[in-house]
Amino acid sequence: MTLQIDQFMCREDNFGVLIHDPRSGETALIDAPEEHAILAAVERTGWTPTMIMTTHHHQDHVEANLALKQRFGLKIVGPKGEASKIPGIDVELVEGSKLEFAGQPVEVIETPGHTAGHICYYLPKSHVAFVADTIFAMGCGRLLEKPAPVMFHSLTKLVALPAATKLYCGHEYTLSNARFALTVDPTNSALKERAAKVEKLRADGKPTLPTTLAEELATNPFLRWHDPAIRKNLGMEKASDEEVFAEIRKRKDVF
Ligand SMILES: [Fe+2]
Repeated sequence: MTLQIDQFMCREDNFGVLIHDPRSGETALIDAPEEHAILAAVERTGWTPTMIMTTHHHQDHVEANLALKQRFGLKIVGPKGEASKIPGIDVELVEGSKLEFAGQPVEVIETPGHTAGHICYYLPKSHVAFVADTIFAMGCGRLLEKPAPVMFHSLTKLVALPAATKLYCGHEYTLSNARFALTVDPTNSALKERAAKVEKLRADGKPTLPTTLAEELATNPFLRWHDPAIRKNLGMEKASDEEVFAEIRKRKDVF
């Protein structure tokens, strides 16, 4: 059972993602950042969306909900905790909710932090997770609605997924994330290599995503709280994992 996935830019730096099952014709959008860009992707792919899988309530993730619902009559699923802020929501999800896409199980993972009700979608049969504004390439979402310990717990759930899982994220923030990552983990050769690649990709106007959990575990400082070199660099050898994460997040906020 192979899903086809199409990622495209929306707005300034948001990603739109369409997932399509060629056998059934079912197509889902991960969030709805911008009507115009989504319609262009629908036309280019020929895939008519039947569902929007919403990750969180921010305007740049739900703006096109109602317009697309009106045009395609699609179903909108999203986090129960933010249902009142998600236009057109039909199905309210919590962790453990039963959700399927084209006959495949979709696991709902609650990842509060960036927003209080943020959820991620994991399709174990397709080895792919849609993590929106929880994990970015070499970064993580800003803590707008929940404090660091809550986000830390959310991230521990995602790092427990199989390392080969492909991750689709909500934004192209990679270049600034890479530059920051080098300040806390300057001796990491995998990070240095990746940062150089990212500089080149962005200079050529190319996207740096999707990524994989394995790549993030090797280079994303927000998931490397256990790493001795990072801890030494921060002067936090004896701190808890959660404290190391909180310190890295604090530094990125003022980077
Ligand atoms: Fe957001």
